[in-house]
Amino acid sequence: MGRTDRLLAAMTLAEKIGQLTMAAGSGAVTGPGARRELEEGIRNGQIGNVLNVWGGAEVHALQRLALEQSRLGIPLLVGLDVIHGHRTIFPVPLAEACLFDPDSWESTARAAAAEAAADGVSLTFAPMLDVARDPRWGRMVESPGEDAWLASEFATAKTRGFQGTSLRGAGTLAATAKHLCGYGAVTAGREYASVDVSARTLHEVHLPPFAAAIAAGAAAIMPAFIDIAGVPMTANVALLQGWLRDRCAFDGVVISDYNAIAELRNHGVAADAAAAAALALNTGIDIDMASEAYAQGLPEALQRGLISSSRLDESVLRVLRLKERLGLFDDPYRRGAVGSGPAAARQLAREVARKAIVLLTHRNRVLPISRQLSHIALIGPLASASGTMLGPWPAAGRAEDTVSILEGLKAALPRCRIDSAPGVATSHQDLRGLPDAIERCRAAEVVILCLGEEDSMSGEGGSRADLGLPGCQRALAEAALDVGKPVIVLLTSGRPLALPWLFERADAVLATWFLGGEAGHAIADVLTGSFNPSGKLPVTWPRHGGQVPIFYAQRPSGRPARVGERLSSSYLDVPATPQFPFGHGLSYGSFTLRDLRCDPRAVKAGEAIEVSVAVHNDSAIAGEATLFLFIRDPVASIARPVLELKGVRRIALGPGARGNLTWQLPVSALTFLDTDLHPVLEPGRFEIHVGQSADPRGFLSSSIELMP
Ligand code: NOJ
Repeated sequence: MGRTDRLLAAMTLAEKIGQLTMAAGSGAVTGPGARRELEEGIRNGQIGNVLNVWGGAEVHALQRLALEQSRLGIPLLVGLDVIHGHRTIFPVPLAEACLFDPDSWESTARAAAAEAAADGVSLTFAPMLDVARDPRWGRMVESPGEDAWLASEFATAKTRGFQGTSLRGAGTLAATAKHLCGYGAVTAGREYASVDVSARTLHEVHLPPFAAAIAAGAAAIMPAFIDIAGVPMTANVALLQGWLRDRCAFDGVVISDYNAIAELRNHGVAADAAAAAALALNTGIDIDMASEAYAQGLPEALQRGLISSSRLDESVLRVLRLKERLGLFDDPYRRGAVGSGPAAARQLAREVARKAIVLLTHRNRVLPISRQLSHIALIGPLASASGTMLGPWPAAGRAEDTVSILEGLKAALPRCRIDSAPGVATSHQDLRGLPDAIERCRAAEVVILCLGEEDSMSGEGGSRADLGLPGCQRALAEAALDVGKPVIVLLTSGRPLALPWLFERADAVLATWFLGGEAGHAIADVLTGSFNPSGKLPVTWPRHGGQVPIFYAQRPSGRPARVGERLSSSYLDVPATPQFPFGHGLSYGSFTLRDLRCDPRAVKAGEAIEVSVAVHNDSAIAGEATLFLFIRDPVASIARPVLELKGVRRIALGPGARGNLTWQLPVSALTFLDTDLHPVLEPGRFEIHVGQSADPRGFLSSSIELMP
């Protein structure tokens, strides 16, 4: 008998339930309800895992209670939302996705894991893999964007970064892929609302990133809070048993979301705690996060015959095995004992942050700004905000370690006078500061407007019905634009904001999201041209909130949108096209694509197509081009999306330089799901498109023939 079996055999029912319980500490508050007294529960074996506790001393004190004072001495699993950094905060995931660079994604996860492990954490509730197509939903900020292929690449890189090659390795965390699945499709973008998506969309869009995380070895999975067509994910046997355990052979730990098991009663599928606990356990949820439903309901569920003891034991064993894989039995104090090097992480944070910035519009060559400028007006409510730059999941990041836009610009332009004023606030209608701000604009050579959302305006519970600028920022922006000076806008936000009037009038607009601890330096690097912007949008940017959900991989429609044609799939009042397509992002230079080649042009199952394209840097400035490879299956037994992303490549090119990019596209990438949702390859012609975004006007196109 191995250690975990021996322990299981020695456990009382209460101790078993303790291993299935994760109780919240008060380091961070990430869910409702009162915090539980941890010490007593750990001592008596009724709390086997904790979340929202970090710091070597704090974690070791609790760990010592578990090891030295509980009857069986089983170490605690310590979970935390290490979403985009721990002490050193990197850009929010939506911003990091703009890099389209798995190596960077892996590096930031590795750095975050090292810092969190040094603070005693053993498991992160990340990566968040919800495909998000509706910017009203506040959690788009935590997601890698709208595309299943992109989210799958992100899943693999993040899982590798957090977990390293072995969970016993120094500086590793167990990764929790969340939230399985469909959370991004909440009705009308409203947080926690019901989801009603087709099985096809679940399998084509929402599940692939989780399959990728599982294939990369993710140790844990968290089901979403929501219900799909009346079946809460916390009780969704078809997806958590049928898909996850049976089809994907996932044998790791399933952790409920915060209080989600108790909330089965609110969903209207359980009458009491015993029924809720039984539903969740029978669905395969191993750990109850913070709801107490297992503690309160499982003993009665067992008595009433709602669950079997073997089902309970199976979950306990999974938790013990994860603790074993993490090396917690052999070296329980290793995490929390050794520090990590923050200096290198800060450098990485600056590097990634500047690469995450997306230059949305640019006219009149206002960028990069000249280092000779003597007077800049830095106006807007986010100009000197520091904590805000950390975004809605700051983990252990601190406002005082965060470089604001003002500080970053001052450091980059020490001889320039930078006159700063908020003008207005993000949250209330008060125009008293406006005249002073406008006076400063008049006196300056260039105006930089720092507009957008506070960190609390996206993230969990951060849905917004209006995708405009909150507060009276529009009044400030319009007054500043009326001054007639060159105006550069920095948009801080957790989602695309629908601001057609601003894109029309400003000389340049940059999406700067929430860039983390090095935000100000990264922004200054881009504004001054010491870094040529290269970020690309991982989401389609709407013109108007009424266009959402909006995404490039739409189906063709029998009456596709045609400008001026009423009986086509469009609106009367707003164009059907987005403000900016998926993949959009300007550079200070420009690139041209030539010579798209597909070789061979006729292929069979099991083969691959080499797709190559030449890229030319037409400008006198070095930069990085990002190219997207899309396919389209124009005639199939099921209508296929107008475009499907199958690959992304980046290339750095010096002034006037030329290079080639190549993809090996396996024929299996042409597969889709048939009417029974089984993968099928249908012979025929496939279009191949390569472009710098999903805008078809910039494509080089070819086609290949799949032979029977
Ligand atoms: C609720 C959120 O939905 C989830 O993403 C997070 O991991 C938990 N709270 C724990 O903080």
